[in-house]
Amino acid sequence: MIDGAVLYLHTNKSCMESLQKYFEKHKERFLKELIEWLSIPSVSADQKFKDDVFEAAEFAQKKLLAAGVDRAEVCPTNGYPIVYAEKIIDKNLPTVLIYGHYDVQPADPYELWDSPPFDPIIKDEIIYARGSSDDKGQIYMHIKALECMNAGGSIPCNLKFMIEGEEEVGSENLGTFISNNKKKLAADVVLISDTSMLSNDIPSITTGLRGLSYMQVEITGPNRDLHSGVYGGSVANPVNVLCNMIASLVDGNGRITIPGFYDHVKEVSAAERAEMAKAPFDLDDYKRELGVQAVSGEAGYSSVERTSIRPSLDVNGIWGGYTAEGAKTVLPSKAYAKISMRLVPEQNSERIAQLFTDHIHNIAPETVQVKVISMHGGEAVVTPIDSIAYKAASMAFKQTFGKAPVPVRSGGSIPIVALFEKELGLKTILMGFGLDSDNIHSPNEHFGVFNFYKGIETIPWFYKFYAEMK
Ligand code: BES
Ligand code: MN
Ligand code: MN
Repeated sequence: MIDGAVLYLHTNKSCMESLQKYFEKHKERFLKELIEWLSIPSVSADQKFKDDVFEAAEFAQKKLLAAGVDRAEVCPTNGYPIVYAEKIIDKNLPTVLIYGHYDVQPADPYELWDSPPFDPIIKDEIIYARGSSDDKGQIYMHIKALECMNAGGSIPCNLKFMIEGEEEVGSENLGTFISNNKKKLAADVVLISDTSMLSNDIPSITTGLRGLSYMQVEITGPNRDLHSGVYGGSVANPVNVLCNMIASLVDGNGRITIPGFYDHVKEVSAAERAEMAKAPFDLDDYKRELGVQAVSGEAGYSSVERTSIRPSLDVNGIWGGYTAEGAKTVLPSKAYAKISMRLVPEQNSERIAQLFTDHIHNIAPETVQVKVISMHGGEAVVTPIDSIAYKAASMAFKQTFGKAPVPVRSGGSIPIVALFEKELGLKTILMGFGLDSDNIHSPNEHFGVFNFYKGIETIPWFYKFYAEMK
């Protein structure tokens, strides 16, 4: 139980009011700072941006210090550093561990952007830049929420920040950092803003994330590229072979054909599916917004279900042979594909990677050689909706949006969430302020100024309600 007097000191009405005043007075500067951060191309996947990734970490450290943390450090790892900071108010108060990432996805293809991805612009109250929604814009809300609380004299929880720079490439070094720093990271709950809401009028809390197995397949045919007239028809073409193999991975009912793939997939009860179906979703809007005539997927499930409670398999990239301008007649020696499988609770990502590897070897014709690499992965999570953290988040949204949020399971993956539970015994609350239509990982990624500001305003309420109930 928390000392009432200590708590009152940090959550009384006048504190929330002066926090709000500070926010109104400084919010334009907050936006300018975010734009400065977004101008640093912190692409973790591409070595060309190595110095920028480090610079983005230092920027976060600097801004955390300015926001009022007790200490902030850029912790080296074997890859990109982890920015750790803390603000310890009182040992009687609960501790919240805030996680986010300062690295971003590659911006390619650049020519499809209406404005340069690392030259942020605000157009019609929307910030356009790589990382604006995923995740720099969202983690920056937390840094600014702290600044406001600090200035307003009301920080009702101890805060620990862990902001990594390798989320978009599989968080390879984060697991080691967590197991080496269990004491430092001790907390009551993890808070993450790296997901989306249903819409700006329908706030939602993400209650599930899918797991992931990410694979690369390399097919080798003849020992060199061949003339496609001289040899075509008599030597297996690795690109053709790869396409056939991929086509066979999903059947006519949208079911994945890898033996054992569905072994541990739990059927969600009819009652829960009925509950999920209550969340607002308009299939026509969905199709219109994506520019597709029809949706597709596993028979017997709705689009919402197909991206939340059911697994999926997708080719993320495929290449081989001649792809430059004009026509070159060639029968390529090699073909490649990157394939991801999104997983649901109880499917183990390593087991699935093994099943995939075995299956690809089994179905490959003897005309080619096959190499399969498992690149990275992580486990699915479902978060409880009867926890104090969920209630606090729900009340916080109600406070600032005027509406209680709906629980929604998302199709994306944040593999570290399962690790927080396993390594630190911590549950996570996913308070995302982006929208699915923000074009994350895609050209013209954007984040609403409304969403950025609403996040900063909502987060302090979470701490207040959480501390009051804890
Ligand atoms: N923030 C996303 C995950 C996300 C986005 C979850 C939208 C829910 C809604 C995260 O940065 C991400 O892109 N994760 C990767 C996995 C990672 C291992 C590369 C993903 O989901 O593809
Ligand atoms: Mn993200
Ligand atoms: Mn991402």
